[in-house]
Amino acid sequence: MNHLDPVRHVRGESSYLDDIPVQQGTLYAAVFEAAVAHGRLRGLDLAAARAAPGVVRILTAHDVPGENQIGGIVPDEPVLAEGTVHFRGQPIALVLAHTERQAQAALHLIKADIEPLPIITDPRVAAAHNELIVPPRTFRLGDSRTAWADCTHVFEGVAESGGQEHLYIETQGAYAFPTEMGGVRIVSSTQGPTAVQRHTAHVLGIGMHQVEVDVTRLGGGFGGKEDQATPWGVLAALGAFLTRRPVKLVLDRMADMRMTGKRHPYSSDFRIGLDTDLKIVAYEVTFYQNAGAAADLSPAVLERTLFHCTNSYFIPNVTATAYSCRTNLPPNTAFRGFGGPQGMFVIESAIAKAAEELGVPASEIQRRNLLRENDLLPYRQPAEMCHAEQAWDTAADLYNLPRLREEVAEFNQQNERLKKGLSVMPICFGISFTKTPMNQSRALVHIYTDGTVGVSTGAVEMGQGVNTKIAQVAAQTLGISIDRVKVESTNTTRVANTSPSAASATADLNGKATEMACQALRERLLRHASTEYTLNYEGLEIRDEQVLAAGVPAETTWEKLVSSAYWRRVSLTENAHYATPDIHFDATIEQGYPFAYHVYGTALTVVTVDCLRGTYELDAVHIAHDFGQSMNPAVDRGQIEGGAVQGIGWMTMEELIYNEEGRLLSNSLNSYKIPDLYAAPKVLDVHFLDTPGHPRAIFRSKAVGEPPLMYGIGAYFAIRDAVRAFRSGHQPTFSAPFTPEKVLLNLYPPVSARSAAAWPSVSTSIPATTSAAS
Ligand code: MTE
Ligand code: HPA
Ligand code: MOS
Repeated sequence: MNHLDPVRHVRGESSYLDDIPVQQGTLYAAVFEAAVAHGRLRGLDLAAARAAPGVVRILTAHDVPGENQIGGIVPDEPVLAEGTVHFRGQPIALVLAHTERQAQAALHLIKADIEPLPIITDPRVAAAHNELIVPPRTFRLGDSRTAWADCTHVFEGVAESGGQEHLYIETQGAYAFPTEMGGVRIVSSTQGPTAVQRHTAHVLGIGMHQVEVDVTRLGGGFGGKEDQATPWGVLAALGAFLTRRPVKLVLDRMADMRMTGKRHPYSSDFRIGLDTDLKIVAYEVTFYQNAGAAADLSPAVLERTLFHCTNSYFIPNVTATAYSCRTNLPPNTAFRGFGGPQGMFVIESAIAKAAEELGVPASEIQRRNLLRENDLLPYRQPAEMCHAEQAWDTAADLYNLPRLREEVAEFNQQNERLKKGLSVMPICFGISFTKTPMNQSRALVHIYTDGTVGVSTGAVEMGQGVNTKIAQVAAQTLGISIDRVKVESTNTTRVANTSPSAASATADLNGKATEMACQALRERLLRHASTEYTLNYEGLEIRDEQVLAAGVPAETTWEKLVSSAYWRRVSLTENAHYATPDIHFDATIEQGYPFAYHVYGTALTVVTVDCLRGTYELDAVHIAHDFGQSMNPAVDRGQIEGGAVQGIGWMTMEELIYNEEGRLLSNSLNSYKIPDLYAAPKVLDVHFLDTPGHPRAIFRSKAVGEPPLMYGIGAYFAIRDAVRAFRSGHQPTFSAPFTPEKVLLNLYPPVSARSAAAWPSVSTSIPATTSAAS
C-alpha cells in the first residue's frame, strides 16, 4: 500500500490553491508591510496608491467591520496594524487591484509615517525588561535543590538553538469568494480550517455559519500553517466581503520568508548533576524562548519544551522553568516538534558537557539513564509500554555501535585533515495535543448506492499521507477495496469545530472517528443482511467485498447489500465523534497524563569533517524507530526520512539571521540554505522496531509526523565529536546550527591565542576534495 497521491503530484495533476481556475472579476491582493520592527504608526498616505492603475480599493484597520483581532491563544495580534507596529513585515494595509502586478506596483506608492521605538531581538534582553508573553512556567519532579548534595559531579552551561524557516513548497495563500446573504467561502492553504473560519467570522463581525473554509491539500505545512495561514485567509475574506468580488492573495517566496514566523530560537541555561555511576541525579534548566512580537502558539510551544526537557531519560530531580519572551521579530510559531526539539537539544548538551568534562563517551551517560517501564516523566505521566532501551539496544546491535566506534577511532588515527565523529540520539515524544480539549475529531461517511464511499474528516493532507491512511481505515473497516473510497476535501460545513492537523495526531484522531463511523455502518448493513437474507447476525462479516456467514460466502456482495439497504430505507450515512480517552492535565500543578502514548527511537549518526575547510558530510544515519504496528510502512518510512533530514537541516545548516533592526538577512534561498541531496546522509537506514503499538493509536500504528525530526539533533553532536577529535580538549559553545563557518572557527584557536604550539599539525599539501559538498 503506497501513498495515494505522489503519482498525481509528479504528473502535476494534483490541485493546489494556485491551480484553482480563476473566477471572472477576481481581484488580486498585495500586502503593505511595516518596514521597521517597532514604532508608532502616525499616518498612512494612500493617495498615490489609490490613484495607481488598476487599484480598486485599499483596506486598513479602519475598514475592519468586526474586531481587528486574530490572536489564537492571547488576543494580541491585529490582522492589520493599528497604533503601533511590532515587527518588520507586519501587515498594515491590503491593496486590491485587477492584476497581481498592479497590486504589487501600488505597494511602492504607499507611505507610512512610523515613529521608531526601541527594538528588542534577544529573548534574554526581553526577559530582563519583563517583556513576557505569558507568566513563566515551571515543571518539578523530586527536589533538585537538595539533590545537588547527592551529586558527585555537577556541570553548568548555556545552550542556544536557532530558528527554522518552514519552507513549505507552496507559500501561504487564500482565495475568497463572496457568497449570498453576506457570507464568504475561503479556499485556504491552512492546517487549521476552523481557525481560519473562526477568525474570519470574528474580523468580519458575522457568524461562523456564514464562513465556509475548504482545503484540498497543502504543498507542505510543517506547523507553519497551523496558525499562520489565518491572516492571509482573513485578509482575502475581508477583501471579498467588502468588495463583493473574489479576492486572491498569495505570498511570493521572499514575502513569505519576511512576514511569517518560524521555529522559535531558544537560549537556555542548564545545570546537571551525576553520581559516581553516571546516573543523572538532578537537572535544572531555564529556557528563554524567542516568541517574536505576539503570542501566536508560543505558550503551547513553550509547554511542550517543558514536557520534553528530559527527552528519553529518567531524572528523579528536575526543575525546568520556561519564559516566553516578547521580541520585535515576526511571531514565531509551530514547527515540527513544537518546542520539543528545543528542549531536547539542551538536555543532550548537558549530557555532552558532563561526558566531555568526565572524559567518557556521552553514550555511556545516555544509555544508563534511559527511561524504563513506569518511570515518571517530569509531568508525572509514567512511561508505559516504554521502548527506550529496546530502541537503543536494537540500534546498537543491528548497526554494530562498537564496530562503528572502532572505525571512527581508526579513521581518526590515520587521518590528519579529515576527522569522523559519532553520536547516539535517543528520542521520546508524546502524542496528543498538550491542550487536552483539542484531542477530539469527527468523521462523516457516506456510502453511495453503487457501493462507493465518501469520507470527510477534519484531517488536512499536507504530504504526510493522512488521506491514504484514512482511506485505508475506511476500506479495511468496511471490508471493501480502497478504490471505492474517496477522501474528500476538508470543509468546515461537512466537519465542524475541528482541531488543526498537527501534533502528529491527525491520523489517530481522524482515523479513529472514521473507524467508528465505518464500524457503525458495517454493523447496520450486517443487521440488514441478517433480516433480508435470514442469516444469523453472529458470524456475519464483509471481507473483500463479499458477505460471509460464519466464514462461508453468502448470496450477497457488498454492492448488492448496499443497494438493498437503500431500498429498505436503511441510512447509508454515519457521523462519528472521537475524543482521546484517559488523558488530562492540570496546569495549576503542572501534573497529569497529557499524552495518549509516547513514541521512542534511536539514531546513530556518523559524520566526516574536513578540518581544513570546516565542511562536513553525513556518512550515515542509522535509525531504529518505534512505529508500533505500522499500517503503511511506505508512508511511515517517508516520514522518518523526511523528518530526520529536516532536523539535520535545523541542526547544521539552516541559519536564520536577523540584524539588530529586526530585519531578516537570510531572506531568500541564496542566503538560507536547506539540505539538498548532498547534505542528506549518504546512508539513511530505518529499522522498524518490533513493538506492539498502542490501543490509542489508529490500528496500533503509532504517530510518525514529528518524532523523527529530533534524530537530526544527533548530527550536531556527531560533528561536535569530530571537531574534538581534531582539536582535543576544545569545548565548542553549544550553539546550533553547527554551520561549516562555526565548525571552522571551532577547529582552530582564535588568532590572538595562537602560538606555534597551539596549532594542531595539519598537512600543508592541498588535499583532494572529498565530496560535492566541499
Ligand atoms: N510531512 C509532509 N510531507 N508535509 C508536512 O507539512 N508536517 C509535519 C509532519 N509531516 C508535514 C509532514 C508536522 S509539523 C506534523 S504535526 C505532522 O506531519 C502532521 O500530520 P499527522 O498528524 O498526520 O502526522
Ligand atoms: N502540538 C502541536 N500543535 C499544537 C499543540 C501541540 O501540542 N497544541 C496546540 N497546537
Ligand atoms: Mo506540527 S508543528 O504539530 O504542525
